[in-house]
Amino acid sequence: MAEDRYIIHGGIRLEGQVAVSGGKNAAVAIIPAALLGSSASVIENLPDIEDVHVLVEMLRYLGAKVEFDGSVMRIDPTTVDKYNPPAYLAQRMRASYYLAPVLLGIFMRAEVPMPGGCNIGTRQIDQTVKGMSTLGAQVDTLGGVINVKSDKLIGSEVYLDCPSVGATINTVLTAVSAVGTTTIYNAAKEPHVVDLANFLNSMGARVMGAGTSIIRVRGGRPLRGSNYTIIPDQIETGTLMIAAAATGGDVIITGAIPTHMEALSAKLLEMGVYIREEDDLIHVRSNGRLRGISLKTQGYPGFPTDLQQPMTALLSICSGSSLVTENIFNSRFKYVAELERMGARIRVIENTAIIEGVDHLVGTSICATDLRAGAAMIVAGLIGEGTTEITNIGHIERGYERIDKKLRSLGAMIERVTK
Ligand code: EPZ
Repeated sequence: MAEDRYIIHGGIRLEGQVAVSGGKNAAVAIIPAALLGSSASVIENLPDIEDVHVLVEMLRYLGAKVEFDGSVMRIDPTTVDKYNPPAYLAQRMRASYYLAPVLLGIFMRAEVPMPGGCNIGTRQIDQTVKGMSTLGAQVDTLGGVINVKSDKLIGSEVYLDCPSVGATINTVLTAVSAVGTTTIYNAAKEPHVVDLANFLNSMGARVMGAGTSIIRVRGGRPLRGSNYTIIPDQIETGTLMIAAAATGGDVIITGAIPTHMEALSAKLLEMGVYIREEDDLIHVRSNGRLRGISLKTQGYPGFPTDLQQPMTALLSICSGSSLVTENIFNSRFKYVAELERMGARIRVIENTAIIEGVDHLVGTSICATDLRAGAAMIVAGLIGEGTTEITNIGHIERGYERIDKKLRSLGAMIERVTK
């Protein structure tokens, strides 16, 4: 069977300028939200990635008219006539369950198969269920389907037990269709939550406080279609910054939002990397061996769990020892075994990886066990001596737009091959 792979000849310093694509996690929330409009929306700066393609298929299945040229998407929701996306599409990504509150708002019922997404630990949805039911929906998840209906959605107060990104987004998406005001306490503050709120507000919704831990939504539809440009991808930006630092590179990343990167920039500075920020540009340069550090993942503005994996790949060749503590997902260190195959010395005890920096990694055949693990494999391949073969790259292409091409433009020797 044909298997697509990346082949990387490592040890080359990345140099040059590269532009960041639109944010995956913003895109996958904003595209379903466009169905809440009474007319078509045009969304710009979308990433051309597998998750977005799957969403397009799902929206078309539901009856929407969707045109997508790889960056700009026009979504006409006026012909949507189904409330039950199929499992074969929904299970291909995590964000498919954002359709549940959206379709609930349109039809007062929805049947959305339990979402898929990366296998990085328990990914509960109890807080989503709590948000929707507090606003007046009956929700059950029997048989692997989120089955939700309501006679009337009414604004209320929702306290989230943890600042879950998914639950915050699902509760906001429910609240815009509810009558009255909803207040969400302990909300996630991630940039993509803010971007979704800005998009909904551009459609005529009133979502206030996004980016803080208390979000207020004054509900009430109809919303109108809107023209909107989504934010750059925070995690792609970070992955490129890490790749530049790891190769002793000199890279200017454009189209980024430097303030979204503060947690990573602070850590890279601590390690000895030079960073300059200017408007939408981040310049990363490094020379010589970097210092090991300690970090703990947290919700925004803390260090993002989605950069934990590529950062661990970089730390594996830094001097001294490093500690990486994963606080968000309970099984996000599976990829460490792949780094060890390249010579990394990492011990995982509970939710902490203890990394003893080695002089170099050596290329071999490794597997991308999930999306950001794939990013870690790419960083390892760029560092590694000799040739690294990365299999299972479907995971990577779910979330990174032509990462091979972008890295090639910076001088990397990376090829995408189909056996
Ligand atoms: C989003 O996942 C992102 N996905 C993830 O990005 C990201 O890693 C994560 O947020 C954290 O930032 C999308 O935006 C599509 P959570 P999500 O709900 O919403 C627990 C990537 O690589 N929890 O904030 O699924 C849960 O078990 C992906 O781009 C509950 O206990 O994350 C987990 O341990 C991977 N009950 C933690 O909270 C709930 O009801 C964080 O989950 C919900 C979550």
